[in-house]
Amino acid sequence: MATQIPAQGTDWQTLQADMLAARGNDVAWKDGRAAVYVFHSGDDVMGVAHDAYGMFIAENGLGPAAFPSLKRMESEVISIALDLQQAPDGAAGCMTSGGTESIVMAMKACRDWSAANRPVQGIPKVVVPYSAHPAFNKGAHMLGMEVVRVPTADGYLADVDAMAEAVDARTVMVVGSAPCFPYGVIDPIERLGQLAESAGLWLHVDACVGGYLNPFMREVHAEAGREPLPVCDFSVPAVASISLDLHKYGYAAKGASTVLYRQKAYRDAQVFHFEDWPCGHMYTPTLAGTRPGGAIAAAWAVLHYLGRSGYVARAQRIDAVRRRLENFCAAEGLTVFGDPGLSIIAFGDERGDILAAGEGLYAEGWFSSRVQNPDGIQYMISPEHDRSIDAYLDVLGRCVSDARAGRLRRGGAISYS
Ligand SMILES: Cc1ncc(COP(=O)(O)O)c(C=O)c1O
Repeated sequence: MATQIPAQGTDWQTLQADMLAARGNDVAWKDGRAAVYVFHSGDDVMGVAHDAYGMFIAENGLGPAAFPSLKRMESEVISIALDLQQAPDGAAGCMTSGGTESIVMAMKACRDWSAANRPVQGIPKVVVPYSAHPAFNKGAHMLGMEVVRVPTADGYLADVDAMAEAVDARTVMVVGSAPCFPYGVIDPIERLGQLAESAGLWLHVDACVGGYLNPFMREVHAEAGREPLPVCDFSVPAVASISLDLHKYGYAAKGASTVLYRQKAYRDAQVFHFEDWPCGHMYTPTLAGTRPGGAIAAAWAVLHYLGRSGYVARAQRIDAVRRRLENFCAAEGLTVFGDPGLSIIAFGDERGDILAAGEGLYAEGWFSSRVQNPDGIQYMISPEHDRSIDAYLDVLGRCVSDARAGRLRRGGAISYS
């Protein structure tokens, strides 16, 4: 029989013990075993997010008049985000529950603003690189829009010329990622900006991964005397909106992202207003009605706890891990896809089945994503991975050589005979 609400309650101690036991099968992210899903930047940071979340666990971002504390924290978080993204005067933004909601909201704002200001005939179209996150397709599905995915060019970067060819009279939006999830490379946002400007289109930058990392990684690269990272914020004049996640490299609690707009009129097109029901006017800026006060409070607290220097220090740790992975790949003959300079690295193997190696890692409790066409392992770095990277590379090296020798095969066929 399916689980039903228990007739009587259970004491918390028993429940807690049950939950702790259930957790025993989860990936050991505190030991650095998750290179996706979790962004661990230290127990102290986690503690601040946890306590701040707990303080505001009952409060609701839907009611800014009832909770001026949340209103203040949210507007300070947005102000920080706008400053980090070089936003001009008059820019505006919102907090949302995550990257997907931020992207969907930007698409809605673009759709509705375009309908009022530069309407197209038929289904509004969004042109994205093949490497863009599926959230754009989810958004299009819900909003009655259409997404065209254009194959990437050299270095797994958005192919701006091919995207220009895909633009037609129905196109309202073009997209670049900073960086994209599969390869961790930053699309040529300045060139996409030229395309957007010449075709009169809305350019959205998906900086869900990089929004709270790029500004600090820039300092790390500058200090090391490296090439500066490509520009990917509002300093590119055609950028109309940016999505950036607090619950990724902002190190905030889950359920927190930001979506920013070059001008308030764009943000206004995101808002939903309805009045034909018993309670009259209802304005909701985002997809959600009720919004967790805890997520807003935790994001505010972590941003202030770490400050610029805390984020730069963590970017430095991420950079050291990425370079360690790059050096390992070079030494082992693995191919790094593109030229990532941030926190994601994807690599393949021309001498063996990298996905079989990936399955070997998984079997030993090391979680990460994979990519296809070509096949590769994708590793998303957290600052705390500097404690576990040696152990990871030991297992990776063994799995790669087992896959090359045919001892490790896909589908769980591991044979050491
Ligand atoms: C580039 C990019 N955009 C959007 C998203 C979606 O974010 P979320 O999972 O918070 O909805 C992700 C998630 O990994 C991402 O990597």
